[in-house]
Amino acid sequence: MRLAPLALLLLIAAAPPSRPLAVDLPNDEGLLPERYGVSADAANGNCLGCHSAAMITAQPRLSRVQWAETIAKMRTVYGAPIDPADDAAILAWLLAD
Ligand code: HEC
Repeated sequence: MRLAPLALLLLIAAAPPSRPLAVDLPNDEGLLPERYGVSADAANGNCLGCHSAAMITAQPRLSRVQWAETIAKMRTVYGAPIDPADDAAILAWLLAD
């Protein structure tokens, strides 16, 4: 029983040197893309705190009023800290589909 830790230590010491691991670091792929020249900055800054970019781009096309209601719902129902000054830019991007 008392030899078990020692045996483990010997096993670790005898193990061949580990090869370097290939690690995929996060990159910009998680961000929403520009659409037809309309910047996604406002949407990236306000919508990705709770959703993935893929969740946003998978949405069906909505009207301006419906998207405005969705933004309002994120703010009022889910407490999203969306700056009202960004609404127009977010809407422009959501509609540039
Ligand atoms: C504070 C977190 C939070 C932020 C920030 C947020 N949402 Fe949401 N959103 C939610 C939650 C919670 C739901 C309901 C559960 C779900 O469907 O994932 C939701 C649902 C949705 C839905 C599904 C349809 C619906 O009406 O429920 C859409 C579309 C959506 N959000 C878009 C957006 C967009 C666009 C933004 C940026 C303007 C945004 N969300 C920012 C929390 C957030």
